[in-house]
Amino acid sequence: MDRPDQTTHFGFRDVPLGDKQTLVNDVFHSVASRYDLMNDLMSAGLHRVWKDIMINALNPPKGDAPFALLDVAGGTGDIAFRAAEAAGTGFRATVCDINTDMLDVGRNRAVARHLDQQVSFVEGNAEALAFGDRSFDRRRAARGLSGAAARQPIPVPGILHRRRPGARSAL
Ligand SMILES: C[S@@+](CC[C@H](N)C(=O)[O-])C[C@H]1O[C@@H](n2cnc3c(N)ncnc32)[C@H](O)[C@@H]1O
Repeated sequence: MDRPDQTTHFGFRDVPLGDKQTLVNDVFHSVASRYDLMNDLMSAGLHRVWKDIMINALNPPKGDAPFALLDVAGGTGDIAFRAAEAAGTGFRATVCDINTDMLDVGRNRAVARHLDQQVSFVEGNAEALAFGDRSFDRRRAARGLSGAAARQPIPVPGILHRRRPGARSAL
């Protein structure tokens, strides 16, 4: 339960804890259509390098055995697409994000890349995931939880138990 006087960081200022998620949502609503271009410009393309490293670490299987990835705070689906392109025919990814504009951009990208059968987009809050336990073989979250989630502690344990036994996670 949040205390009414509790604050947290948002950019260079402190804001009431209960306001942060709305502020974060406003940012991503306003940049959703430009988000992927901004990623390239602001990181000088470096985000592509660390995303490749993450895909190598996730190591999605190349075969046709069923394999499920949960991408928490996955935004426009960049990592899920990369994983799908590196994986075999059994691969499916669920991109979960709180922001419907980011998800809409992701859905359009999936169609354009002919990956809409492998990658689906679901609205959800990382702090209260609606997936059943042990639903996924891999889960990953990039820059969504530490940078954007409103409350402390970061709700990683709540995400981890969606993993199947032996599953791997990447943050
Ligand atoms: C910096 S973007 C990262 C997107 C993607 N992971 C990537 O690396 O391109 C952060 C994302 O976290 C999402 N987000 C913020 N708070 C969230 C929450 N509580 N639950 C789910 N997603 C959240 C935002 O909507 C945004 O899409």
